[in-house]
Amino acid sequence: MNSTVIYPVPQLEIDRQAQYMRLFSTLPKRPMTYCIMTYGCQMNAHDSEKLAGMLTEMGLTEAPREEADFVLHNTCCIRDNAERKALGNVIWLKELKKDRPDMLIGVCGCMVQEQGMADSIRRQYPFIDIAFGTGTLHKLPELLYEAVERGTRMIEVDEELNTIAEGVPIRRSSPWQTYVTVMYGCNNFCTYCIVPYVRGRERSRQPDDIVREVEDLVKAGVQEVMLLGQNVNSYGRVPETGLDFAGLLRRVSETGIPRIRFMTSHPKDLSDALIEEIGRNPRIMGHFHLPAQSGNDRILKAMNRHYTVDQYMERADRLRQARPDIGLTTDLIVGFPGETEAEFRDTLALVERMRFDSAFTFIYSPRVGTKAAEFPDQVPAEVSTDRITRLIAAQDKQTERVLNGMVGQTVNVLVTDVSRRDAAMLTGKCERNISVNFSGDAGDMGRIVPVTITAASRTTLKGKKK
Ligand code: SAH
Ligand code: SF4
Ligand code: F3S
Repeated sequence: MNSTVIYPVPQLEIDRQAQYMRLFSTLPKRPMTYCIMTYGCQMNAHDSEKLAGMLTEMGLTEAPREEADFVLHNTCCIRDNAERKALGNVIWLKELKKDRPDMLIGVCGCMVQEQGMADSIRRQYPFIDIAFGTGTLHKLPELLYEAVERGTRMIEVDEELNTIAEGVPIRRSSPWQTYVTVMYGCNNFCTYCIVPYVRGRERSRQPDDIVREVEDLVKAGVQEVMLLGQNVNSYGRVPETGLDFAGLLRRVSETGIPRIRFMTSHPKDLSDALIEEIGRNPRIMGHFHLPAQSGNDRILKAMNRHYTVDQYMERADRLRQARPDIGLTTDLIVGFPGETEAEFRDTLALVERMRFDSAFTFIYSPRVGTKAAEFPDQVPAEVSTDRITRLIAAQDKQTERVLNGMVGQTVNVLVTDVSRRDAAMLTGKCERNISVNFSGDAGDMGRIVPVTITAASRTTLKGKKK
């Protein structure tokens, strides 16, 4: 592992960006509205809240994509289909721009950070006005200002990806449930995964910065935080923060925030200390997302996951002992290079043994620059498609069993939405992160309400207010 130095973005630089935010409003002819298109994971969703925060400070307001003066695509490149979707939409805008030449097109996020992408944007996509990678997100004010003021294209991609920017304004999309980043990047280099290349090395925020952010959220009435990181349970290692993830959870819960969730955890770093904290801390919700990826030891080794199926199951068992009501969910990949039918069946067997509440299932997608893309015996598409269909059917059965098993139980639901069809129908997530629909009134919005489950559908629960 190289010994990259992690450094905070200097306050001076953050102040300089704030200056650009103010200067922007003095430009005589400037974009007044924006639309952000977000692809990918929670990290990107939260990055988009920061992008929206900066644009709002600059005086822009949100508008539909067809009308917005500035359309920004926050892209994902985890699988080929994510990348194609984003590119397709960007190219669609090119047509729109023919009628509206003043419109600005921006692209940012993981795809821009891929090897050679900045060059290809420069050469092949002349209609893109602004592009920046995941490491230069906080520079949006400067890039937008310069693009408008000088009328030139602004493309800025930082190859280092070793910084943490504090103090970027955030426009949160929910008043009750919000994201808080605890660490950036990833050091694990699973052989299939592009994330370490486009998000950089693992780096943790300082506990005081995190706690201060959560304290402010509590004051604003937020009920639930989702602590974010590619591998949250390695929190605190680089730079050493003096606190591991279990310790951080304890400090965050001392703010009085009613509900804490976190994502994502790597099975190899799931410590006894963390399991104990989950067992004794009722503010931590009873849901654990623990990506298994495969149910076969040879495949797990080829994926560079650093655990065996037995070790995975042992960790899951310990979690269930510490917190018997905990719901486990997972990520699974089918068609990893060389995966045989028998090896795939081991994944099916894992799904049957583990009784996951739900699983995200993916067909392996080769990513340029990752090790697995060079592996022999890439699995044909039709074989992978057949496997994922069987895997989804197997998990659906388990989900049905789990959800039906909850009928009769009383769960606590954080009410976040009103049904569009029926204003008396409210919805929110229970502790296990399963959607619950029930009839209530507008006064329940944003509150945590006990609901007795009366019925289960394929993926959601129905209940009655207790
Ligand atoms: N850091 C998290 C999430 C990473 S991306 C973790 O380690 O779990 C989310 C999921 O996408 C992964 O868990 C994996 O199941 C899937 N994934 C990543 N790269 C992929 C690829 N090249 N093809 C198919 N699925 C992939
Ligand atoms: Fe990708 Fe593995 Fe890191 Fe998750 S832990 S982001 S799958 S390299
Ligand atoms: Fe995609 Fe980047 Fe997330 S590649 S899954 S948006 S970290």
